[in-house]
Amino acid sequence: MASGPKLMRTVALGVLCSAVLLLAGGASAAGNFYQDVDITWGDGRGKILDGGQLLTLSMDRSSGSGFQSKNQYLYGRFDMQLKLVPGDSAGTVTTFYLSSQGSQHDEIDFEFLGNASGEPYTVHTNVYSQGKGGREQQFRMWFDPTKDFHTYSVVWNPSHIVFYVDGTPIRDFRNLAASAAGVPFPTSQPMRVYASVWDAEEWATQGGRVRTDWSKAPFVASYRGLAAAGCAGSDAAACARAGGAWMFQELDAAGQEELRRARASYMIYDYCTDKYRFRQGPPPECAAAK
Ligand SMILES: *[C@@H]1O[C@H](CO)[C@@H](O)[C@H](O)[C@H]1NC(C)=O
Repeated sequence: MASGPKLMRTVALGVLCSAVLLLAGGASAAGNFYQDVDITWGDGRGKILDGGQLLTLSMDRSSGSGFQSKNQYLYGRFDMQLKLVPGDSAGTVTTFYLSSQGSQHDEIDFEFLGNASGEPYTVHTNVYSQGKGGREQQFRMWFDPTKDFHTYSVVWNPSHIVFYVDGTPIRDFRNLAASAAGVPFPTSQPMRVYASVWDAEEWATQGGRVRTDWSKAPFVASYRGLAAAGCAGSDAAACARAGGAWMFQELDAAGQEELRRARASYMIYDYCTDKYRFRQGPPPECAAAK
């Protein structure tokens, strides 16, 4: 246990980015929450357990809770294992996301929308660039995400943001800024890792029809295995030079086929095909992404 946390700390510091990544890549027993994150809100509802290997976030009627990484990263690969709120989780939203600061912020979101007992969870993804989001895609999960830990990953580099569930790519948001589409892409603002459990009963579950059953509180989600292998800095050129496998990672033909199948089987909402929202036609990145 002694060397694991130190190793991840080195990764987090961004020292020897690529060399350390090779070591960290195979290690599923990742960082130590005591060293890697701060619990930032929730007044004791967030707890670090098992010597830093486990973190639980809970929500009751008065508050949810959340944490954030001590470091910020410009590009990287971010893995988190989550076990979502079991039983009746209607109205709850559990999150794992990356975000920079300020009104022109960039953000890469995984949000898990709870449901009534036995009804399926929804994975909600979104990408903000320069303060503008509205790029939601939602998926059904192909397993019960409340029974065991599953791994949710984001790879962010100058050309792609890829979302993975247990290693299966579900979304590839490409940098099209250089092409005719001219859609801004997160390339310069360092981001922190964030996680939270919060109350969104107004909209989260079946469009707000199913409210939170507060008699079931507290609602608890568990996190472990945060592995942030990124460049901890804000100098884009230096981060590009420091490299790391994530900097050049993109889906090969097999990965693209997996992505196509995941979209065909599990996607339940895509902003690109939402004709009610975009009556004048879909946003430019939708056409260019084909
Ligand atoms: C909850 O379950 C219902 C019924 O199966 C489904 O329509 C809905 O999409 C599920 N997810 C959410 C977040 O409401």
